[in-house]
Amino acid sequence: MELKNYIRTIEDFPKEGISYKDITPLLLDPTACSFAVSEIIKGLEGQPIDKVVGIESRGFLLGMLIAKALDVGFVPIRKPGKLPAKTISQSYDLEYGSDTIEIHQDAIQKGEQILLHDDLLATGGTAAAACRLIETLGGEIKQVNFIIELDFLKGRQLLPKDKVKSLIHF
Ligand code: PRP
Ligand code: MG
Repeated sequence: MELKNYIRTIEDFPKEGISYKDITPLLLDPTACSFAVSEIIKGLEGQPIDKVVGIESRGFLLGMLIAKALDVGFVPIRKPGKLPAKTISQSYDLEYGSDTIEIHQDAIQKGEQILLHDDLLATGGTAAAACRLIETLGGEIKQVNFIIELDFLKGRQLLPKDKVKSLIHF
């Protein structure tokens, strides 16, 4: 199955010059979604994974399906002010300004093996900040996976070496 056929490119969204990778055609197709999940978890058989962490908001979509497929719990990383219990925060630089993400303090226990998921790896700032949150709580990053990686932005350089897996490359 060619997953790239389920990604739609929208030029100049959300602003001029940006070539937006739209995963909604993939989400519309249950067979393609199941295939994507099985490709992501391929090779993890027999390896202990304790939790899947997904990044708001598009990382929630397959993130929960991956957790379900592995039969483990799902942890949301959210934008500021959205999580109700005690959180820790991590800020990261954007092209202009900065952004922050948060995780519940009690979502991960020390030594747990974590699989981090997001839909897209661009500059890597978001996923790198998510890795920091997980590691601050004592989690160990087993794999960081994406549906799509924009190779030319070299985001994987910011992420744990040899732990990044992406299904589709542009
Ligand atoms: C997009 C995408 C990743 C992030 C990647 O999310 O879903 O989370 O940007 O960018 P980076 O590698 O340069 O950090 P966005 O902030 O657009 O929000 P959304 O998931 O809520 O749509
Ligand atoms: Mg996102």
